[in-house]
This record gives sequence, structure tokens and C-alpha cells, in this order.
Amino acid sequence: MTLRKIAQIGAPVLRTKAAPVDPADLASTRMQALIDDLVETMRDANGAGLAAPQIFEPLRIVAVEVHDNPRYPYKPSIPLTILVNPTIEPVGDETFENYEGCLSVPNLRGVVRRNARIRVRALDRHGHPIAFEAAGVTAGTFQHEVDHIDGVLFVDRVEDTRTLCTWEAFRRHHEADFRRRVESLVARYGDGAPRPLGG
Ligand code: NI
Repeated sequence: MTLRKIAQIGAPVLRTKAAPVDPADLASTRMQALIDDLVETMRDANGAGLAAPQIFEPLRIVAVEVHDNPRYPYKPSIPLTILVNPTIEPVGDETFENYEGCLSVPNLRGVVRRNARIRVRALDRHGHPIAFEAAGVTAGTFQHEVDHIDGVLFVDRVEDTRTLCTWEAFRRHHEADFRRRVESLVARYGDGAPRPLGG
């Protein structure tokens, strides 16, 4: 496995619509190595997720994983999930305000409106179809990562630019309030962890 360089805002690869993966290519050594690199790079950087374009691979692949994340201590856990060619549809029309950051946008956070409940469909790393629902902050994490493969960064979705802040300012002035909001989301939706859909 290789730790890859993470593309930073301004890199054209972050602004291109990534290409779908041909499921027949997934078994290839190159594609499996790319997915291993994506996971390794995400873990090394303490990311909650990472999309292939962020490691300069313009393909529709994202990785998500949260366990006691030091960057996002309030985030509920998410087991390692690899999504190939994912699609997201909202369930219901409820939204919430999520304070987001991104490994491709150094030292900046901001408030983004996300769908509170979503249905995700994708292939796993072996090409098998997967489908699940997620809610709350966890749903926000999946929406953030899938945005990346469409060339969208969270800053594009910040409605009130006065919410933009550094990580230090977030800790000092906004984290306590945001934690309370996350707790109320967890009270409402449970941990929002991916729940497989039947059928
Ligand atoms: Ni990001």
C-alpha cells in the first residue's frame, strides 16, 4: 500500500466529474491497489472519508470510516465502507445543518445543509451491489464524499459564509453548540449507522 498525496482545493481533479468504474475492472490488481491506497491515505490523515479524486484518481470510488476520529470526536462510528459508482437519494425532505471540513480544504470548516435521511446504492469493492439507509451526521458524511466524485466541495454548499471558520476557531467558539445539535440528531435517528435494505 502507498500513502497518496491529497489534492488541495484549486487542483482541477477536484472539480471534474469523475468517471464511472467498469465493474469488470474491479478485479484488477491496479483497481484493488487503488482502493487499498484510498483507505490507507484516509486513515493516515484521520479522514472520516476520502474520494478517489482526492488522491488524483478521477473515478467514482469513495471510502468512509469513522472510529473515535480525532478530527471529528462527536461523529458516530461508521464501519469501513467502500462505494463504487454510488448514488444517493433523499428519504423524506428533512434536512439538518452539518458543520463540515475536508482534507482537501485545509483548516476551514463551515455549515452545510444536508438531507437527514438518505438511501445509498453502490457496488462494493468486489462489484457486488449494496444498498443501505443512513441518517443524521452519518448521512452527511456520505453526501460529502459523493459530492467529491461530482466535483463539488463543501464550500460550494455553504449558504452563510459567516459560518466559515478555522479548526481552532471551531473548537473555541462552535464545537460545544454543534455537539449539542449532534446529540439531538442522535437522539432522533439513533447513530444513523448504515442499515442494509432488504431484498
Ligand atoms: Ni472532503
